[in-house]
Amino acid sequence: MDFEKPIEMLNLADKAEIEGQDFQPKKFNDYLGQQELKDKLMLYTKAAALRNEALDHVLLFGPPGLGKTTLAQIIANEMNVGIKICTGPMLERTGDLVAILSSLEPKEVLFIDEIHRLATNVEEVLYSAMEQFKVDVIIGQGVGAKSVSLPLNPFTLIGATTKTGLISAPLRTRFSITERLDFYTSKDLAQIIYQSSKHLNINLAESAALMISKASRGTPRIAKKILRRIRDFAQINNNNIADDNLVAQALHFLNIDQEGLTSVDIMILKTMITSFDGGPVGLETLAAMVGEDAETIENVYEPYLMRQGYIEKTARGRQIPYKTLPYLKNRFIGQKTI
Ligand SMILES: Nc1ncnc2c1ncn2[C@@H]1O[C@H](COP(=O)(O)OP(=O)(O)OP(=O)(O)O)[C@@H](O)[C@H]1O
Ligand SMILES: [Mg+2]
Repeated sequence: MDFEKPIEMLNLADKAEIEGQDFQPKKFNDYLGQQELKDKLMLYTKAAALRNEALDHVLLFGPPGLGKTTLAQIIANEMNVGIKICTGPMLERTGDLVAILSSLEPKEVLFIDEIHRLATNVEEVLYSAMEQFKVDVIIGQGVGAKSVSLPLNPFTLIGATTKTGLISAPLRTRFSITERLDFYTSKDLAQIIYQSSKHLNINLAESAALMISKASRGTPRIAKKILRRIRDFAQINNNNIADDNLVAQALHFLNIDQEGLTSVDIMILKTMITSFDGGPVGLETLAAMVGEDAETIENVYEPYLMRQGYIEKTARGRQIPYKTLPYLKNRFIGQKTI
């Protein structure tokens, strides 16, 4: 099969490249979009700051690149406290977590990314830390060993995950604030792109920002990646001016799909059309045929396809909605249906 090659999912190196040099929002005001979520978090942080207390624990979930880590940093900034950042898999032993917890200053934020990947025994240490601000540690060995309860400063745990389903119920229920980040609307994303363009010194037309936003899968990280490539284009070809014309040319040159679909998205859709006439097809079968693991399909690719209305979940598996099938057949297989 001959697939187009639009923009790929970002790997960690891309992530570092982009986020290391780009403009990063530091305050709620710079964090554009997600208005409802932002309003809530602003209220909670303001109230906690007025009471001079640590903010309650926050669990943020949603697809990659939507701004979970950024929000955690903003919360710490707005509370005027420090933040310690780690990831679930990094905390291999309970001692690692106890060391970090006992080093936290009052009201400080501990951000644990990929919190669904914590080892069970490490996760259990978090329970009492979150609830009672204490941890129980065993000191000594053998008959002389005794359990000591170590008090902690009140702190805020912010957990982030792309996979809420994998978080155990005891952990999930210990977060008193649980919020989901959703894909951005094109309008909000266009504003983020416009904001970034100012920091990258590109003269970007507002209409061109909207074009980029439509190809960005509702995801700021992808929008920023595309914008950096457009900057190269504008710099070499158009005196740093990115108008509609230049952006259209650049997107075409970069082989970026008008709706931001990746080659894997297209492969998923093509497989569903050619091998299952639109479905239903089981997730595992689909994953095996596309050559990705089921979890990645479910958490990385499927949410956007579902949002576009191209895939739906049914009791018998994934399927392309009946109404969308003719359009997708026409677009990807070049074959009209009756
Ligand atoms: N609302 C926003 N306004 C402006 N920039 C944003 C916004 N949300 C995210 N960004 C930018 O998008 C990029 C990705 O954000 P971030 O790293 O916070 O995503 P994430 O949800 O933590 O992703 P992952 O799940 O992969 O860890 C960053 O460069 C960040 O500055
Ligand atoms: Mg993150």
